Amino acid sequence: MPAIAPGSATAEAHPNIALVKYWGKRDEALNLPCVGSLSITLDRIRTRTQVTFVAGAGADGVQLNGKTSESARVGAGLDLLRARAGVDWRAEVVSDNNFPTAAGLASSASGFAALMLAGAQALGLALPPGELSALARRCSGSAARSIFGGFVEWARGECADGRDSIAHPLLDRAEWPLAVAIAVTSVAAKSVSSTVGMRRTAATSPFQGAWVATQEADLAAARAAVAAHDFARLAEVSEHSCLKMHALALAARPGLIYWNGATVACMHRVRELRGQGMPVFFTVDAGPQVKAVCLPEALPAVAAALREVPGVLEVIECGLGAGAHLVAGPHA
Ligand code: DP6
Repeated sequence: MPAIAPGSATAEAHPNIALVKYWGKRDEALNLPCVGSLSITLDRIRTRTQVTFVAGAGADGVQLNGKTSESARVGAGLDLLRARAGVDWRAEVVSDNNFPTAAGLASSASGFAALMLAGAQALGLALPPGELSALARRCSGSAARSIFGGFVEWARGECADGRDSIAHPLLDRAEWPLAVAIAVTSVAAKSVSSTVGMRRTAATSPFQGAWVATQEADLAAARAAVAAHDFARLAEVSEHSCLKMHALALAARPGLIYWNGATVACMHRVRELRGQGMPVFFTVDAGPQVKAVCLPEALPAVAAALREVPGVLEVIECGLGAGAHLVAGPHA
């Protein structure tokens, strides 16, 4: 008999944005990346998730943004926690995002970080953050990083079982409070998921080997830029990593085009602003939104400039945020 009673807990986590990108897996089952990555965790936009375990086996119930949702990944993530706790209880999961879901705004990162923290707490599992990061990684790679706030690095790791492929904090957000303007250019769900896109890229892109071979140098440059609070250096390596990831994916067969016209227009606008002396750079993930990272004093001007770009629907302004944390649930 399990020593614990079924419980309930609510957690919040924020999306993170990779400055040195994760793209490609060395092990799909354990979700181990073929490269390390470096990110910033955002504030303001978040996922809030309540997990309630109910004694007795059966199907999990998942509600996302008020709608019943089928999610094999949620069930698989909860199975990892149930195995740790030695129980077979089913779970009721109620989750909401205060930003567009599945549109390249990293809802899987915040979603699975919040799910694993709330689920572990609801089962009475006191897991250190590194273990939560490894569990969140199993659900979605980028979720490993949303366990932590500020600047975060997720190690590729060398072990076949993935125990060293976890994220860790690099620098506290208070020490270098960057800001981010997110230009939303579409709220449609993306056509090819990151998981499928990575699989196709690794199988067909002629640039896969070069991508893996050059990642360590990018990580070293980004780490050094973060340690030195060197914005120009971080801008250079971040735009390079973003464009290199997209070049890799564009060269897959069939090629993956995550951008629309407004995405490209925003990238040009950010470069124009930087040419005029504004401290800002862009990054784009597996979707059409453009994230303009800047020093806080530049945020109003950067956001205003992006709002003027034709095709931009909305600009969300954020700072750097905290790691995943427990909250008193609104659903409790
Ligand atoms: C482009 O973490 O969504 O945002 O591990 O398959 O769930 P899975 O992929 P996911 O991929 C994120 C890819 C990216 C780059 C990044 O966040 O590093």
